[in-house]
Amino acid sequence: MSRTMSHFSLFIFIFICLSCLVVISHAKNNGFSVELIHRDSFKSPLYNPTQTKFQRNFNVVRRSINRANYFYKELSSTKNKLESYMPFDYGEYLMSYSVGTPPFQVYGILDTASNLNWLQCKPCNSCYNQTSPIFDPSKSSSYKNISCSSRTCKSMEDTSCSSDGDACQYTLNYSIGSYTHGDLSEETLTLDSAFGSFVSFPKIVIGCGHNNGEPTYNGPNSGVIGFGSGDTSLIKQLGSSIGGKFSYCLIDEHNSKSNRSSKLNFGDDAIVTGDNVVSTPIVKMIGNRQKDYYYLTMKAFSVGNKRIKYRGFKREGTNASTHNIIIDSGTNVCILPHRVYYKMESAMKKVVKLPRFQDDTDTFRLCYNTTSKQNFPPITAHFKGADVKLDSKGAFYSLYKGVECFAFISQKNGLGLFGNMAQVNYLVGYDLNKNIVSFKSSDCTNY
Ligand SMILES: *[C@@H]1O[C@H](CO)[C@@H](O)[C@H](O)[C@H]1NC(C)=O
Ligand SMILES: *[C@@H]1O[C@H](CO)[C@@H](O)[C@H](O)[C@H]1NC(C)=O
Ligand SMILES: *[C@@H]1O[C@H](CO)[C@@H](O)[C@H](O)[C@H]1NC(C)=O
Ligand SMILES: *[C@@H]1O[C@H](CO)[C@@H](O)[C@H](O)[C@H]1NC(C)=O
Ligand SMILES: *[C@@H]1O[C@H](CO)[C@@H](O)[C@H](O)[C@H]1NC(C)=O
Ligand SMILES: *[C@@H]1O[C@H](CO)[C@@H](O)[C@H](O)[C@H]1NC(C)=O
Repeated sequence: MSRTMSHFSLFIFIFICLSCLVVISHAKNNGFSVELIHRDSFKSPLYNPTQTKFQRNFNVVRRSINRANYFYKELSSTKNKLESYMPFDYGEYLMSYSVGTPPFQVYGILDTASNLNWLQCKPCNSCYNQTSPIFDPSKSSSYKNISCSSRTCKSMEDTSCSSDGDACQYTLNYSIGSYTHGDLSEETLTLDSAFGSFVSFPKIVIGCGHNNGEPTYNGPNSGVIGFGSGDTSLIKQLGSSIGGKFSYCLIDEHNSKSNRSSKLNFGDDAIVTGDNVVSTPIVKMIGNRQKDYYYLTMKAFSVGNKRIKYRGFKREGTNASTHNIIIDSGTNVCILPHRVYYKMESAMKKVVKLPRFQDDTDTFRLCYNTTSKQNFPPITAHFKGADVKLDSKGAFYSLYKGVECFAFISQKNGLGLFGNMAQVNYLVGYDLNKNIVSFKSSDCTNY
């Protein structure tokens, strides 16, 4: 009997120790992954079953075009201001995370162009329709206002002092009637790892919005998850704890019938290695602008064997030959400067001899009647130092059943955006210490 007991306690002892080891090695490993929820997927709290596939497709493209206009206005503005022209929810992926102690779950729109993580907070002087519960900072023991005299407050644009002079207030204006204003604060954020554990980060600077406007919004989204390259973005603040690294692997959401989702990885889990990895530098904007994007250098695009030189446009803080395309999580289709687009379109027309389909909505210029994407020549994006041959699912968009459209849009303003469709079935890694983006061809449904 006592023998059994001692075996049993030995077993418990070993078990406890193994658990310690697992916890310790997990902490050492410094890596974890979270689920990315595409806004139109079944799992999305924004999923609208009454929308037809066509409406969804159409909205995707409309969002991409509006977002391109937003970047253009933002970059053309002579003021170094956080000033944007789009509804805040013009992004494609949602992520669930928790704020405060005890943790309170919210959904945010992931945005690689936003440099502040913000959410709606109680009390709401004015809030847009958020269908999920709104965070109440008075119920969190880890919530702290940031003082108006702090360096953080002074270093940020568009901050002011509360009427009693103590709390630092932030304002982000997106477009007419679309804004967030509230207390700049420090909170604990907890990410929900895809492997069932939670990873907490204390003292993250966030915006707690007490006045938020968005005339058309009605849904669960509580705000924006800032993955930009500026100092107050969430990803910059996680900094050393994730080694400056994140990566994602995007599945083909628009044609996916499975309930799998894309993943977002951090730290050691975000390292992209192997034989077929290619990397290109992230080019920082010239001058000391707080507003920065993930600019890459595009040399050319190929349509089959035809190579088309890529030229960008000069804007304040950029160089047309080096800073000529923004890799962006919130744009779906690729947006290209006019003359690059037209050359690609004409190269495509020369090769493809399928019946044309006229898109009456004028969304896409080049559509074909076909049931297979394999009928098209491959498209390769030649970044500086990195040739990325797009997955066949990334270059053509299924507008209707049997209709495939060339998933590139031309922009009068000449701005280039490398959208997330073009990144489908690539593991895309950002290393903010080395300032590189790496690509590795991967089957993201198995990733
Ligand atoms: C934070 O500042 C606001 C004023 O902007 C104030 O109403 C609130 O009580 C402060 N919260 C805490 C926890 O100090
Ligand atoms: C934001 O918009 C409001 C209302 O239009 C305006 O009063 C305020 O000055 C703007 N703030 C910033 C920082 O642009
Ligand atoms: C927000 O909710 C109110 C009350 O339920 C409703 O009347 C209004 O139409 C909603 N706004 C939007 C944009 O859905
Ligand atoms: C995906 O999830 C939705 C909602 O839970 C369900 O209706 C659907 O059948 C699932 N599809 C598959 C292929 O499992
Ligand atoms: C832009 O970049 C190119 C290539 O690096 C360089 O030769 C050129 O001098 C740069 N132009 C400006 C205005 O900085
Ligand atoms: C092309 O596809 C559309 C939509 O499915 C269909 O209405 C049309 O008849 C097709 N045209 C040809 C030439 O097959």
